[in-house]
Amino acid sequence: MTAPEIIIETQNLSKHFGGLAAVDDVSIKIEAGTLHAIIGPNGAGKTTFFNLLSGNLKPTAGRVFYKGQDLTGKPIYRMIHMGIGRSFQITNIFPNLTVYENIRLASQAMENKNFHFLMDTSKIENVEERTAQVVEKVGLTSQALLPARALSHGDQRKLELGMILAPDPELLLLDEPTAGMATDQVPELITLIQEVQQSGLKTVILVEHNMNVVMKVSDRITVMHQGKVLAEGTPGEIASNQEVQTAYLGGLYDLNA
Ligand SMILES: Nc1ncnc2c1ncn2[C@@H]1O[C@H](COP(=O)(O)OP(=O)(O)OP(=O)(O)O)[C@@H](O)[C@H]1O
Ligand SMILES: [Mg+2]
Repeated sequence: MTAPEIIIETQNLSKHFGGLAAVDDVSIKIEAGTLHAIIGPNGAGKTTFFNLLSGNLKPTAGRVFYKGQDLTGKPIYRMIHMGIGRSFQITNIFPNLTVYENIRLASQAMENKNFHFLMDTSKIENVEERTAQVVEKVGLTSQALLPARALSHGDQRKLELGMILAPDPELLLLDEPTAGMATDQVPELITLIQEVQQSGLKTVILVEHNMNVVMKVSDRITVMHQGKVLAEGTPGEIASNQEVQTAYLGGLYDLNA
C-alpha cells in the first residue's frame, strides 16, 4: 500500500498575540481528497490557524508545508497560485456587482499576472465559460444577473463558495460557511460542499460549529482547545472521546440523541 498523500502539514505551528498563544504548537497532517473538520469552543484558535495556513498571518514559530513545499509565511497570492482557496468568517462579496461579476472577478484572480490578458480573446472566453460553470455549480444561474446584495443570506453563502471555487483550488479552507444561515438552508450548502469535494477530488478543511453537520460529513476531525490540538480522529472516535466531551461537546452533541 502506498502512503496517503499529505496535502498540508503543520509542524509546531504557533501564533502569539502579545502574551496570548492563540495557536500553540500545532502539528497536524491532512490527507489529500478528504473532508477534515476543525472544531472547538469560541476562541480556541481555529480562525487564527486558518489564517496561518492561508498566509493571512505569519506564524510566531513553526512551519507550514503544502504538498511538501515549505510555504511558511509566504504571501497570500502565492497560496492562491499554489491552489489554496479560503473563505472568511464574514461574508466577503461585492454587494453592488452581480452574482456573475463577483464570480468572474474571482476567476480572473488566477489570470491577472498576465499583462496581455485583456487582449487575449481565447482567455476571455475561458473565463466567461468557467464563470458560467461555477454559477451553475453553486445553483445561482437564475440569479446570475442580480446584484449580490439582493440575494438572501443563504444564497450569499453559496456565492461566496462559488468565489472560492472559481480559481479551481485544490484545497478549500471554509471558516463557518453555514454561519448565520437559516437552519433549513444548511443541508443544501453542506451537500454542495460535499459534492465539490467528492466530484472535484478536492481537499476541504472546514471549521463548523454545527456538530450534526460535522459528525455526518467529516472524514477526520481535529479538536482545538486553547490554541492546542486536544484530539484528532474519526467522527466516531471524537464523539466518544471523554476529554472532548468534557471540554467541548458536552451539551452540544449527544451521541444518543
Ligand atoms: N488579531 C488578533 N489580535 C489579538 N488577539 C487575537 C487576534 N485574533 C484572534 N485573537 C485572539 O486569539 C484567540 C483565538 O481566536 P480565533 O478567532 O482564532 O478563535 P476561533 O476558534 O476562530 O473562535 P470562534 O469560534 O469564536 O470563531 C482568541 O482569544 C482571540 O481573541
Ligand atoms: Mg473563528
